[in-house]
Amino acid sequence: MKKTSYRFTAPKAPRLSKDFFANRRAEFVKKLPANSVAIIVTGPERTRSNDTEYAYRPSSDVLYLSNFGEPECVLAFVKGKEDSRFIMFVRPKDKMREIWTGIRHGVDGAQNEFGADEAYTIDEFEKVIAPLVDEADTVLYRLGRNEHLDSRFNTVWSKTQKPLGNPEEILHEMRLFKTAHEIDIMRYAGKISAQAHVEAMRLSRPGLMEYQLQASLESVFRFNGADYPAYTSIVGGGNNANILHYIENRAELQDGDLVLIDAACEYQGYASDITRTFPVNGKFTPAQREIYEVVLASQKAAIAMTKPGVRLMDIHETASNLLRKGLVGLGILPKTHLTAEGEKKAIEAWQKKKEAAKTGSAASSAAKKGAGKKAGSKSAAASASEQEPLRLFDFYMHGTSHWIGMDVHDVGTYGTRSQKGKKRPLKPGMVFTVEPGLYIAASETRVPAKYRGIGIRIEDDVAVTAKGFEVLTADVPKEVDEIEAVMADGRKHCEHVEAVFAGRSGNR
Ligand code: GLY
Ligand code: MN
Ligand code: MN
Repeated sequence: MKKTSYRFTAPKAPRLSKDFFANRRAEFVKKLPANSVAIIVTGPERTRSNDTEYAYRPSSDVLYLSNFGEPECVLAFVKGKEDSRFIMFVRPKDKMREIWTGIRHGVDGAQNEFGADEAYTIDEFEKVIAPLVDEADTVLYRLGRNEHLDSRFNTVWSKTQKPLGNPEEILHEMRLFKTAHEIDIMRYAGKISAQAHVEAMRLSRPGLMEYQLQASLESVFRFNGADYPAYTSIVGGGNNANILHYIENRAELQDGDLVLIDAACEYQGYASDITRTFPVNGKFTPAQREIYEVVLASQKAAIAMTKPGVRLMDIHETASNLLRKGLVGLGILPKTHLTAEGEKKAIEAWQKKKEAAKTGSAASSAAKKGAGKKAGSKSAAASASEQEPLRLFDFYMHGTSHWIGMDVHDVGTYGTRSQKGKKRPLKPGMVFTVEPGLYIAASETRVPAKYRGIGIRIEDDVAVTAKGFEVLTADVPKEVDEIEAVMADGRKHCEHVEAVFAGRSGNR
């Protein structure tokens, strides 16, 4: 086991080459209809407050096709009868603005660095696209991505009303299938995020604040060259783990509690997504371990079945059934709930009983009233059926998987519109998460007290290969013994550092 801090062990970073983007653009153009123009806009900058902006994150589609990261950018692909052209619209060079906010590549940079056949400043957009729209049989533009650019596009398009297609239908299908180079990048993102989780495990102790673990995680991301967290980091101690998107991260971590961390970085435009749950003090209690082992068995089995042809809904079903089995084994769910079908029947039976009890008690209170007596307390039948039976959904209320790529919840369809559920068969190059969890609210009085306030999720990123799968986030432990060993080692390391500092201050 490595003893040093995990933030100094970054492997060599892979990068996507200019040729890679050129090949990708060629593939996109090949899929466009004949004699068309496709126009892809980046997203707007967003004000955070007054005159400060959020860090700019370009649209994934623009990044995917050009690797160009500046705001106010439009890409246009003209597919003519004989040839095709790639046109970029970008911000103009501006000496003064560049002193304040950084360099602008300008039209020369767009051509020389980003492979545009032609480039114009963004203020020339309408003038340049008008004849292209005029000449094309089909125009592909997705409204709703940038209001300002939508209205500028509309002034041109409305004059011709050419058939309008959606370029995202082509692009997002391409983005769903990752090439080997993209998987290299995602593996690297996964490694950075895994290191950050290991570091958080090593640092954890009662009395630390949730935001301190967040600070450590995000510092490992950035230290290793990641651009941003791929989504807002979730660090939830104790019952906070039962808020699925808990991002306050302001509470103190308590001895005897678990902490759930769902945090991961984005590297070169590609997201990772990891969740681990571990004991704040480094040692699982028996009750925590019981629930943890149920989630872990579910997650491992769901990952293990990954191969081409399997569907995300099959993975969800396997994960859910193992959660059911575990909860039944612990006496939290009744035996009837071992299958979704069994649960449905049991709930329907309860509802019928409740209806019957209601009718019965209404009849008996009418009888009592009729007899001139005050209606008494609820009948035994009514109170027996009052407690609504638990169901798996009470503890597991989200899906098991989503696509992941340039967006954490990545684009790509999950099945045809007429299909219900995630029915699309997996193919090599698809990447998705497997993230079962169990969430037992502290206020849930229908389960034994020892389990209340336990929230656990375990999440990894899985790439489909020709024969099976690769877990891109496997560097962070998830077995109970492994976690406890990493945490014990981290504790020793921290104590050693503290002793050194204590010794130094004593010598002064
Ligand atoms: N971190 C967001 C998710 O797991 O879907
Ligand atoms: Mn996820
Ligand atoms: Mn997540």
